[in-house]
Amino acid sequence: MARSYLIGVTGGIAAYKSCELVRLLVKAGHQVRVVMSEAATHFISPTTFQALSGHPVFTDVWDARPENAMAHIELSRQADVFLIAPATADCLARLAQGRCDDLISTLAAARTCPLVVAPAMNRQMWENPPNQRNVQQLRADGVQVFGPAHGEQACGEVGDGRMLEAAQLFDLLQGCHQPKILAGKKVLLTAGPTFEPIDPVRGITNISSGKMGYALARACRDAGAEVTLVSGPTALTEPVGVHTLAVRQAREMLAAVEQSLSGQDVFISVAAVADYRPAEYHEHKIKKQHEGVPTLSLLENPDILATIAARADAPFCVGFAAESRNVLEFAEAKRQRKKLPLLVANLAQAAMGADDNEIVLLDDAGQHPMPRMEKSAVAWAIVQHIAQMLATASQH
Ligand code: CTP
Repeated sequence: MARSYLIGVTGGIAAYKSCELVRLLVKAGHQVRVVMSEAATHFISPTTFQALSGHPVFTDVWDARPENAMAHIELSRQADVFLIAPATADCLARLAQGRCDDLISTLAAARTCPLVVAPAMNRQMWENPPNQRNVQQLRADGVQVFGPAHGEQACGEVGDGRMLEAAQLFDLLQGCHQPKILAGKKVLLTAGPTFEPIDPVRGITNISSGKMGYALARACRDAGAEVTLVSGPTALTEPVGVHTLAVRQAREMLAAVEQSLSGQDVFISVAAVADYRPAEYHEHKIKKQHEGVPTLSLLENPDILATIAARADAPFCVGFAAESRNVLEFAEAKRQRKKLPLLVANLAQAAMGADDNEIVLLDDAGQHPMPRMEKSAVAWAIVQHIAQMLATASQH
């Protein structure tokens, strides 16, 4: 859905990342308007943002260009979201105090849309107690704070205070509109394939891309949950705002899930776990045999979902069933066998690796088919169903 974003840029070197963010938003079909503080224009020229957004850039309250000369009302009233990125320590202090002595703080005060800030500053400035108080105050006022990230800073120091990357801000912006239907909940997920090594260069795996599990982790995060994602090997980037643990084999995945299980409200098992692993691991690459072919003997892997669902302290467990035929019949049998309140059934050939998916939700009330949608939309539909089931369960 095309949205209208107002991006406020204040004076920090991270302003260069905001150019990329504006480009990503415009490319995705959104309307973007940019306003800058005077200090920000020392880092990036307004012309750059004008070229990227396709709209004039405003830098002061006295700009006479808007028809009624009220830029501070016009611009934030037209926006669905006002994001300030980078937001300097000074900007956060002004916002926390409700000051209105420059264009950006005035726009924030006069807005009717959600306000999001992406702080960027030196780690010492980030940790400075007055800054921490300001951030706390802003959160209490309903302002969403994206980041900051940990890492190397422009000044050479290492710590918290880096602005998130453009792609991460883009990702978080897409979800900041979603209702917080899982607020206060903790969700644990598995995603991707597992890899069961045969020798140092070979192994047994499958074609799961991890896309569905990662989309679900993002959807749970966007719904306000605290999310832990245990991921097998994938080519995907870690979702921002999600605690991600990388594993390889099924047994490592089970161990990571068990270690993270305490306090979880929901466990969603999306991973395509290899049911079997080679009985023996060869320390050196197996050489080609010139007479006959080698045989591979296998051992059974633990069933992670069934193990967790059978525990006395099991959270609300959600399974996936990727079937290549008789989808609903096999999936319902799987739900009964693994004793799951909810199972997501899909046709393996159509789902694995693809960007969209067509699912049927199976629970005690019956079958709930969903239309074919992008995996992000499928993920949100699953989150809504889970939230509803949790709400109903808590009433009984
Ligand atoms: N699963 C798991 N651990 C395994 C195998 C499966 O946690 N060792 C989970 C999957 O993450 C999924 C569900 O169980 O949520 C069903 O997985 P699937 O591969 O469809 O079913 P299997 O139980 O392996 O049965 P089959 O291979 O016969 O279809």
